[in-house]
Amino acid sequence: MVVVKLFASDKKINMNSNIARKRIEQLTNLLNKHNYKYYVLNQTVISDYEFDMLLNELLLLEKQYPDYVLPHSPTQRVGSDIDQKFVHVRHRFPMLSLSNTYNRGEVEDFNNRIKKIIEDDVEYICELKYDGVAVSIRYEKGVLVQAVTRGDGLEGDDVTENVKTIKSVPLRLNGDDFPDDFEVRGEIFMPHNAFEKLNIARQKDGKEVFANPRNCASGTLKMQKSSVVAQRSLDCILYYVVGENLPHQNHFDNLQKAKSWGIKIPDNMARAKSIEEIIGFIDNWEKNRGSLSFDIDGVVLKVNDYAQREELGLTAKSPRWAIAYKFKAERVSTKLLSVTYQVGRTGSITPVANLVPVRLAGTTVKRASLHNADIIEKLDLHDGDEVFVEKGGDIIPKIVGVDLGRRLVDSNPIEFVDKCPECGSELVRLEDESNHYCLNSDECPPQIKGRLYHFISRKAMNIDSLGEGKIEILFDRKLISDFADLYSLSREDILGIEKLYNEDGKERVVRFREKTTVNILKGIEASKNIPFERVLYGLGIRYVGVTVAKKLAQQFKSIDNLMNADEQVLLDVDEIGVKIARSIKAYFAKQNHVTLINRLRDAGVKFEMEENNNIVSDKLSGKRFVVSGVFTKISRNEIKELIENNGGKNVGSISSKTDYIIAGDNMGPSKLEKANKLNIPIVDENEFFEMLND
Ligand code: IVH
Repeated sequence: MVVVKLFASDKKINMNSNIARKRIEQLTNLLNKHNYKYYVLNQTVISDYEFDMLLNELLLLEKQYPDYVLPHSPTQRVGSDIDQKFVHVRHRFPMLSLSNTYNRGEVEDFNNRIKKIIEDDVEYICELKYDGVAVSIRYEKGVLVQAVTRGDGLEGDDVTENVKTIKSVPLRLNGDDFPDDFEVRGEIFMPHNAFEKLNIARQKDGKEVFANPRNCASGTLKMQKSSVVAQRSLDCILYYVVGENLPHQNHFDNLQKAKSWGIKIPDNMARAKSIEEIIGFIDNWEKNRGSLSFDIDGVVLKVNDYAQREELGLTAKSPRWAIAYKFKAERVSTKLLSVTYQVGRTGSITPVANLVPVRLAGTTVKRASLHNADIIEKLDLHDGDEVFVEKGGDIIPKIVGVDLGRRLVDSNPIEFVDKCPECGSELVRLEDESNHYCLNSDECPPQIKGRLYHFISRKAMNIDSLGEGKIEILFDRKLISDFADLYSLSREDILGIEKLYNEDGKERVVRFREKTTVNILKGIEASKNIPFERVLYGLGIRYVGVTVAKKLAQQFKSIDNLMNADEQVLLDVDEIGVKIARSIKAYFAKQNHVTLINRLRDAGVKFEMEENNNIVSDKLSGKRFVVSGVFTKISRNEIKELIENNGGKNVGSISSKTDYIIAGDNMGPSKLEKANKLNIPIVDENEFFEMLND
């Protein structure tokens, strides 16, 4: 059901206020029922048009009688344009994770371990392992009051407003036999069709595409405007009822009960009493996962009976009564059509295999990354080979092998190109590098454009009014050829520019209208407030990613200090090795880079750290801290903030230069061992607070 447009015109409905209140209630319930049928039960009862008519009537009435708007009204799902903050919330019951297995033998071990402890028959509930974002939703007196992400298991982010926009999540429960106060937990995910549609639209707008539906769901759930979340077609399946006065003493019956309250529970569950039945469930879904409209990454096996769960208990992180069996990456075979070469912003050349389109893990795959010449050689890839393709965590799948039995007798091995496919320069392969590079960085168009995309990207200058498509147009029109050119663009330069695209036989126009122009210029102006560390990252110095840029900015405070630092001084910075130090020196050794920086500085871009106005003392001055584990009183980030605000420094890994380790629960054993070996004092959060109070 697609609600094309929500609008409440200025039309008025004449009715007495008591009747209006009743009609609002009636429409709210009716529309919620249709939403439930469509989004939870997959049943279409009325047409989109009829639904929209009823919704519009409700909107009109609600506009006229705002006091009568019900909290569970379907109009409340459209979200808000106001930026929200995600407040940390402590889970009343920790959100544990599951231990994972990758082979059937370990599933048998799991069953045997349980059988050793439980004398009676054990019934398992087999479920799919949804590949999304875990969430816990709390209902009080049947009304959705809070939704919180898993976070570190002890505390997560309050994402209530965003979750309320998900149509399959009831805002109010049906019936009257639910506990007064309980939670349901499950997974928020993005179905394949919504994911593909969104990525296609983003690509057209020149925005970065999401690597996979899980990343997309997790990014969406953390968006500040719930009105945008409402447009993204997230879905939610809830697989765990948590609370004190649950109706049944077993998992399966509680889920069925939750279903009767209108909650969307898993469709594909099975009860199993033997290892054979469990393995049957695993085999079936490992084979048929492609038939689902969303991603799963395995199955989950849970002991059904709560008394037996109690007897089995928990380990530090996960219950002994459940286990996740993770699937191996899905693999298909298809034909190699050609190998083309992409030039990145650093000049690195990436070979890409163009394939006969094939369905894989819910999406259509047409291309696969071949990474570098070594991989092509290792695969011994030939023209027209039949290849095996797998999807890892990235959007671009990998070729993992060749079906040698189907190789054509007269096919030739793929030879890596020796000239840049874009500018024709001779390619080089540096010592110890697996990549080939085009060194013509100043003139090779994809390198220039790549640097511009990187500069405007979210983690750098965040000029989101300028996507890759618009940058390309400005570059092609010779309005920009480096970052500094952006800051001298004027309204006259860009207003009215048009470009016609022909994509798959369809024509599309990108036009710089008044509003676009104003937004672009505003975005460029606003980027002058971006802190130095992100500007430094935006320069695109090789090997200087977000974390390294942050470290360098904190250490050197200004671009001038950084430029003047010699290699040894750079090497003294925590986590900066020879490769990074040399790359930084090489970058500043080029006069055109220095000129570019000066032009950016003249335009008002920040090249100095701002003072930390939150400094409260210098009690920890000169001290280096490693913070590790899970804390009970405040979060890890808050501890790190306290360190910096009291003059201390956070470092990522333990070395002889570390002064203290602040350890919470579950600090990794290797860290502990290293700390003990180097004799570094380990303090807990209370001792840390004492240090601050001293
Ligand atoms: S039960 C204490 N059931 O897998 C057990 N989890 O590593 C709580 N997941 O964080 C989880 N599908 O995000 C459970 N059917 C399912 C699941 C499932 C996906 C996720 C969940 C959890 C992670 C465990």
